Amino acid sequence: MSVLEIRDLHVSVETEQGTKPILRGVDLTIRKGETHAIMGPNGSGKSTLAYTIAGHPKYTVDSGSITLDGEDVLAMSVDERARAGLFLAMQYPVEIPGVTVTNFLRTAKTAVEGEAPAIRGWIKDVRESMKNLRMEPAFAERNVNEGFSGGEKKRHEILQLELLKPQFAVLDETDSGLDVDALKIVSEGVNRAKENTGLGVLLITHYTRILRYIKPDFVHVFVAGKIAEQGGPELADRLENEGYDRFLVDAVVAPEGA
Ligand SMILES: Nc1ncnc2c1ncn2[C@@H]1O[C@H](COP(=O)(O)OP(=O)(O)OP(=O)(O)O)[C@@H](O)[C@H]1O
Ligand SMILES: [Mg+2]
Repeated sequence: MSVLEIRDLHVSVETEQGTKPILRGVDLTIRKGETHAIMGPNGSGKSTLAYTIAGHPKYTVDSGSITLDGEDVLAMSVDERARAGLFLAMQYPVEIPGVTVTNFLRTAKTAVEGEAPAIRGWIKDVRESMKNLRMEPAFAERNVNEGFSGGEKKRHEILQLELLKPQFAVLDETDSGLDVDALKIVSEGVNRAKENTGLGVLLITHYTRILRYIKPDFVHVFVAGKIAEQGGPELADRLENEGYDRFLVDAVVAPEGA
């Protein structure tokens, strides 16, 4: 059984004002097939955790570890992480001018698998996944994310998820900006991936709405760079009702760097 383990992770970022510590001791274990939701206030470091797992060069790991089945993820390049089965759906997907969705997906699939997918089956898979996500076929010929609406960008992230078939997916606010129908369509995509491949999911969100469709096994409250509390799905409802006040008081009282 595959497992992604994060231990006492400390991460900082270089800013014009100097080094800024963001993650302050994150501990998290995700087994394949499990869904973990992370909720927490703006600026608490959720996206930083997502980027650090994916290997964004801007973030420096000061201490701690990330392992996938015991293998040191932090020693892997971004490409190696993708090949090892890690996937990130970004909060703000980037535009790739001059690269069509078709070419991008095929290049990504080839890079992850180590060989190009057989053309016929691949085209069929792409068409089917796009249909499932209610994406017009014309999207395939457009440049990646260029002029896409917010919701279209998020669908394109889930299209990649369906086609690349990772072991673990970090979904950073994939629900933000989706209309009610799109939320359902995108959630169905994630659930299909869970059923078909036993995907492990780390779902970052501000809303319980998506958790009605993608059922979390665990909910973590992320405050000031670490997990402040964990529980089951009922914790999400409590957060929606009460907000983060009781955690923030603790976070403010704790001295900087503690
Ligand atoms: N490249 C960077 N340069 C400067 N500061 C950064 C950088 N990346 C992150 N930070 C800071 O780190 C903190 C955590 O940011 P992060 O994006 O991880 O928060 P978040 O929990 O994802 O917030 P949100 O819910 O708004 O998406 C913020 O204060 C942010 O300004
Ligand atoms: Mg974020």
